[in-house]
Amino acid sequence: MSLLAKATESVAYIQSRLPAELQKPKVAVICGSGLQNLASALDPSPLVEIPFADIPHFPVTTVVGHAGKLVFGFFGPKKVPALCMVGRIHFYEGNPFDVSVFPIRVFKVLGIDTMVVTNAAGGLNPAYKVGDLMVLSDHINLPGLAGWHPLRGPNEADFGTRFPPLSDAYDLDLRQRFFAAAGALKLARPIHEGVYAFVSGPTYETRAESRMLKMLGADCVGMSTVPEIIIARHSGVRILAVSLVTNEVVTAPTPKVSDGPADIGAGAANHEEVLEAAREAGNDMKDLVLHVVGGL
Ligand code: HPA
Repeated sequence: MSLLAKATESVAYIQSRLPAELQKPKVAVICGSGLQNLASALDPSPLVEIPFADIPHFPVTTVVGHAGKLVFGFFGPKKVPALCMVGRIHFYEGNPFDVSVFPIRVFKVLGIDTMVVTNAAGGLNPAYKVGDLMVLSDHINLPGLAGWHPLRGPNEADFGTRFPPLSDAYDLDLRQRFFAAAGALKLARPIHEGVYAFVSGPTYETRAESRMLKMLGADCVGMSTVPEIIIARHSGVRILAVSLVTNEVVTAPTPKVSDGPADIGAGAANHEEVLEAAREAGNDMKDLVLHVVGGL
């Protein structure tokens, strides 16, 4: 069965669960780690939740803090029909890319033209503090450069071309709208614009790896987002992507024995800290997404 035929079956099931006015969402919002409450920015009615497990061909997420459902509803007074993907599928869970990015193919067949992707990320840029936001203006696809690329294999010509450009991956108009929203909402939270390095995970980086990523020009590092963006861009979907800095990545060289006593564990990243930082910033992220998507 072709990818398009599979995605069409998923869409047929999803649409069978939706009222007519929600069957053609314009925007997909992907909620990052700890950012599930973005879905509560949708109008409370009509609202339809569909667990991943119910949808034919859909993968199922295994990560704590990722519930695994699609939520359909309207954003803002203009009633922009949208879906929120709560819980995403990561490469490190063991799925091949064609499985982990399948939902993005389904969203395209549903008719979206815009995707908003959020994530929790480690800050590499020394100016970035926990709780800051970074709008992605570019990325480094480390696994992709080494051969683990989500578009590797026969081209899916029903969706896009063999050699899609990525020099235009992060839509300027959507980035401008995001900064305008932050201004209108008078948010105190610093918002940067920078480069996201995608790594496979699931380990957090060593200090030497973190220094390498910094030298390569990355401002944040994380284990998601880039595969989804590549699949969306393959079929011409516009992208806004935002990282929440949930930890400041340790890049100082590991203390040596000869340095004497040292707290070698200081600053080590952990998943609970990542989720906690995300929860604290969740309301601002929600307001920003509502403002931007509600205005489309
Ligand atoms: N590294 C990779 N992924 C992450 C991090 C990090 O420091 N923080 C949140 N996701």
